[in-house]
Amino acid sequence: MCGIVGFTGARSAAPILLKGLSRLEYRGYDSAGIAVLDSGVIDVEKVSGRIARLCEKTKDGAAVPGVIGIGHTRWATHGAPTDLNAHPHLSNDGRFAIVHNGIIENYLSLREELIADGYVFQSETDTETVVHLLEMYYDGDVLTAVRKTAARLEGSYALGILCTDAPDTLWVVREKSPLILGLGVGENFFASDVTALVSHTKNVIYLEDGEIAAITPQRAIVYDCTGREIRKDVSRVSWDVEAAEKGGYEHFMLKEIMEQPAAVRAALAPRIHDGQIRLDDFELTTEELRGINKIIITACGSAYYAGCSGRYGIERLCRIPVEVELASELRYADPMVDEHTLVLVISQSGETADTIAALKECRSRGAKILGIVNVVGSTIAKLADHTLYTWAGPEIAVATTKGFTTQLAVLYLFAVYASEKLGYIDDGRRAALIHELMELPKRIQQAIDMNFYQLPGLAKRYSSQSLFFIGRNTDYAVALEGALKMKEISYLHAESYAAGELKHGTIALIDEGQPVIAVCCNEAVCDKTLSNIVEVKARGAKVLALAFRDNRKIVSQADDVLFIPRIETVFTAALAVVPLQLLAYYAAKEKGCDIDKPKNLAKSVTVE
Ligand code: M6R
Repeated sequence: MCGIVGFTGARSAAPILLKGLSRLEYRGYDSAGIAVLDSGVIDVEKVSGRIARLCEKTKDGAAVPGVIGIGHTRWATHGAPTDLNAHPHLSNDGRFAIVHNGIIENYLSLREELIADGYVFQSETDTETVVHLLEMYYDGDVLTAVRKTAARLEGSYALGILCTDAPDTLWVVREKSPLILGLGVGENFFASDVTALVSHTKNVIYLEDGEIAAITPQRAIVYDCTGREIRKDVSRVSWDVEAAEKGGYEHFMLKEIMEQPAAVRAALAPRIHDGQIRLDDFELTTEELRGINKIIITACGSAYYAGCSGRYGIERLCRIPVEVELASELRYADPMVDEHTLVLVISQSGETADTIAALKECRSRGAKILGIVNVVGSTIAKLADHTLYTWAGPEIAVATTKGFTTQLAVLYLFAVYASEKLGYIDDGRRAALIHELMELPKRIQQAIDMNFYQLPGLAKRYSSQSLFFIGRNTDYAVALEGALKMKEISYLHAESYAAGELKHGTIALIDEGQPVIAVCCNEAVCDKTLSNIVEVKARGAKVLALAFRDNRKIVSQADDVLFIPRIETVFTAALAVVPLQLLAYYAAKEKGCDIDKPKNLAKSVTVE
């Protein structure tokens, strides 16, 4: 839940580190720091609060000379977000500085041992144990000290290390936290995410667990955990730096909402050839598909809601039972999973700790794992037996939008693909479904255009300390995601309810003026939801409905209506969610919230 970055070359390091950190700030933003080595001394500058404060303190890096350094942006786990707990941390002898993303689970016993040996701690962090271990194991050979230190650590870590005795070399080591090397010309980098690298280079090396690297301006040497040098492939990042910039929008979230037509097209189009769906490396024979007797979808947060929505399409089209499980629950549930179970693991970041744990739990029981992941080379993409990338491009806002709709697009592709293989749809129905899928990007654009100008006003009208989002079936999945978006960025309490459940207790909360957002896009259940609208209105609720644009009945019942264009029922969520993303965006804007970096959150949740 932190971001780390490092640079070695001939340019001034501090401004490069600060720029890199600002691109990683979405990973955590409660404190930040840099360490730069110059003339044999490591200068550490760190502050609580945002990177802007660090820029101010260091005069945008100009006050910190040196051509090699490391940086960190933090989401506090151990110890409050204070200046002292901010990274980098220094060894007692001042020889080592480190930055860390992850959690050292055995830090308490290590800390006791190090204190007994006379090491003095400055912070409450788990990370500080690591820098003292480095000092303890150092006998003139940094690689050996790193290896011995890593062997003592339990938990997850991506570590960036600076040592005064190796004045042009950065050391890194990775275990269960992302770490990427960037290869420039006469300069090299490391970072937690390629977004911090692309403005310098598109040539990257993805490190694997247990690997260590020594990075000088001329080369990056990678070692395995035994200290043996290994050869690594260099990958090329396929997107440009503009993709990770706001491009004239006030917030990344708004930009990413607007990018959804293009992102969904990028997820769908390369997988449809001559009216047939091709799923990259996940081509299954009919026999293999018939051998699957259950599908489990597991994920966290919005990715879980994508799974809730995708489930309806898979069950309806493929007639395979689907269970959707929160990864944080599934991992402890003693799941009934075997070699006949296909597990779809959904994650934008590919680094969510609970999702990774659920994946491992299911795999240990023999299940086949299909990852649906956005970030290329991420842990889930590597652990899964097969991965379908969502190709959404970098998503910077903490609240996911295009990450979510592209997950839906891939789930829809999977449902149609498997349905055809299993013989549940004929050529005509397949062609019709694929036609509708290919229409999705255009219709998402229409869903934006149809509602865009009235949304700021509606967001104002329906903002309230408490909101209800209701819907049935596929519409319920949309209500869940709509409510999460509202809570996450506007800090308004939003509760999503299966519309039919209201009368079993919750309707007691409906009073005069209570805002209810009613998703009413699934025609099979629309009339039922309409009855629920009538019920809440009879108790004084103010109803904003979301429906297909030719739904006349809804106009007579709801106070206000958001419309979306018509689409095949199983694909409606990818359209219906878009106005709700914008509703949350404008509600948060009206309240003056920090939309891209909501309080207490981070983009990639690597703690359990
Ligand atoms: O990276 P992941 O898709 O695994 O992340 C899962 C959730 O943490 C994520 O969807 C979270 O709920 C979003 N911030 C919601 O907008």
